[in-house]
Amino acid sequence: MEPSMNYNILRRRDFAEGLQDESLQIRIREDLTRDGWTLLRGFQPGMEDFSSLVSSLCSRVTFDPARSNTTDKTQMVDAGLGPIGLHIENGNTPRCPDIVCFYAERAAFEGSQTTICDGFAVWDSFDAARQSRWSQQMTVERDLPELIWKRYLANEHPAISRPEEVTMDHVLQFGQAVPGQAFDLHEDGSLTYRLTVDPVRGSVFGEGQRGFANAVLGPSHNYQPPRYTMADGSPVTPEEIEEIRAIAETSTHEINWQDGDIAILDNTRVMHGRRAIADANRNLFIGMGTI
Ligand SMILES: [Fe+2]
Repeated sequence: MEPSMNYNILRRRDFAEGLQDESLQIRIREDLTRDGWTLLRGFQPGMEDFSSLVSSLCSRVTFDPARSNTTDKTQMVDAGLGPIGLHIENGNTPRCPDIVCFYAERAAFEGSQTTICDGFAVWDSFDAARQSRWSQQMTVERDLPELIWKRYLANEHPAISRPEEVTMDHVLQFGQAVPGQAFDLHEDGSLTYRLTVDPVRGSVFGEGQRGFANAVLGPSHNYQPPRYTMADGSPVTPEEIEEIRAIAETSTHEINWQDGDIAILDNTRVMHGRRAIADANRNLFIGMGTI
């Protein structure tokens, strides 16, 4: 039987200089360009090594677990114990990273596999009608409580750092800096936020090939579930999402983590998720950025 996907494992024994090996950097880029993902095994990295690797791949690191001021809890990928649907990281935010890296410091005994799904393969599985529908732009709409959106903006806006400092001017400036956004501010301080994205898009590593890469199948923990509307005005229904989830599952693979593994994903092409966690003793860290 023809294998449906290459199993990319870059092993320590093949790279004399370990994570510093120049040929490793080349192999990572080759794997990302060909398959959208790769796995580094046996390098026995520490958090600083993981952080340096993320920096070597990204010209701008948007989340660095080693240098983050946040608590240990939020550095770790930590969203309960249930399964998590496929998504690109921060796919419903205006600044979506190009590359996402995971570091399994302590792998699970069983369960909690990270799922990965190539958006090119999902797109190729769509029939003509579905391809035509998903070639439209899509608007994601969410109601955000005051504290949530102010905290986010305080982080993103260069002029301020605390939620209390946020004014409507900052909202408007941020709106202009990143296109595709719209806001309605309500009297109770909450905000209706709309972001227009291309749910099917080219990869930053690709040459025009398009893939289904978005967060429609993903989780919405911490937030009210978003409402998705296509450019023709039709809503994305729960039934449609379940149909696409079933299609995507047929191209989904699992990373069976070992201690010290690092996975690198093209976040503009490959979606990821998680099977249910059986061994709560595992931990997994995330780093991401723009190439
Ligand atoms: Fe994620």
